[in-house]
Amino acid sequence: MRLGEIELKTGAALAPMAGATDAAMRRLCAEYGAVCTVSEMVSAKALTMGDEKSVRLARGGGGDAPYGVQLFGAQPEVMAEAARILCAKRDFVPFDFLDINMGCPAPKITGSGAGSALLKDPALAGAVARAVREAVPEAIPVTVKLRIGWDAATLTGVEVAQRCAGAGIAMLTVHGRTRAEQYEPGIHPGEIAKIKAAVPIPVLANGDITSAEGAARLLAETGCDGVAVGRGAMGNPWLFREIAAVLAGQPVPEPPGLSERFAVLRRHIYSMCEEKGEWAAMQQARSHAGWYMRGLRGAARLRRECCALQTFEELEHLIERAWEMQGGTTP
Ligand SMILES: Cc1cc2nc3c(=O)[nH]c(=O)nc-3n(C[C@H](O)[C@H](O)[C@H](O)COP(=O)(O)O)c2cc1C
Repeated sequence: MRLGEIELKTGAALAPMAGATDAAMRRLCAEYGAVCTVSEMVSAKALTMGDEKSVRLARGGGGDAPYGVQLFGAQPEVMAEAARILCAKRDFVPFDFLDINMGCPAPKITGSGAGSALLKDPALAGAVARAVREAVPEAIPVTVKLRIGWDAATLTGVEVAQRCAGAGIAMLTVHGRTRAEQYEPGIHPGEIAKIKAAVPIPVLANGDITSAEGAARLLAETGCDGVAVGRGAMGNPWLFREIAAVLAGQPVPEPPGLSERFAVLRRHIYSMCEEKGEWAAMQQARSHAGWYMRGLRGAARLRRECCALQTFEELEHLIERAWEMQGGTTP
């Protein structure tokens, strides 16, 4: 599958997740087969105001897989200016494509007309897409991530997708829920399929994929060109190699053994500490560590202990205890 001039491998993309898909997670998922990765969402307005924290969110690339920076905003000229700023910083903030957020349901984002609020105004959504597309060099693909609509009465996904395709957007990722549905109940593959059928550009189907079989099923149900995985990858970067194998018609690889699981957890958090400093990294590391503990013997207790982690050393002790609780001796 092609994203502009970029050829994507067979497998799943890592969906953007604020607070999770930082550089450490992107690189790890790419290592296990994510076909492309996307940053946490970055405020276009903050970028245009010179906010350094926003620049840091976009830094760090995505390992070997093509990497996109996701922008959110509702004003075409501000989005275009932010895109130009990022392009000018590309030596310092390397990226391969830009992504536009038209899916975030959080009131602090939709309140300013950004994220999924753009689905209420397809003409504005199209104008945002066009402004960003025209602001960046042809060689940099611009993609859009959207939901199927604002609510059940406002299923504007098809119209927004068509306007985006008409504006020169290279690929869409469709989360198969409305804004009103947030993250539950289940997704609507039929609505994703309608969007795929309505546009001539590649579409990734997204929502609730937690297994390789689930990815293959959603592809078949929607006729999409690929899939994107968000929460399923939390504490489970191995899902990408499993999906890549199944989509290539190969047997699903064995899940990781305990020592691989703990070694990757350790490496993931170490890399976060290196990039953000131990204090800031460990605040976020608590959730990551908890996700890696899922399904283990004593998982509830281990996850409670993850919530109290303050230092990398404490994580190492926790890993030793977790290992012992599984009946092993040393990790
Ligand atoms: C904690 C969290 C943060 C998210 N942040 C973003 C974001 O920054 N940009 C975005 O487009 N979607 C964001 N999403 C939505 C996901 O990319 C994805 O569309 C959604 O979780 C459904 O896919 P999944 O079931 O595979 O997780 C976020 C989701 C979660 C759970």
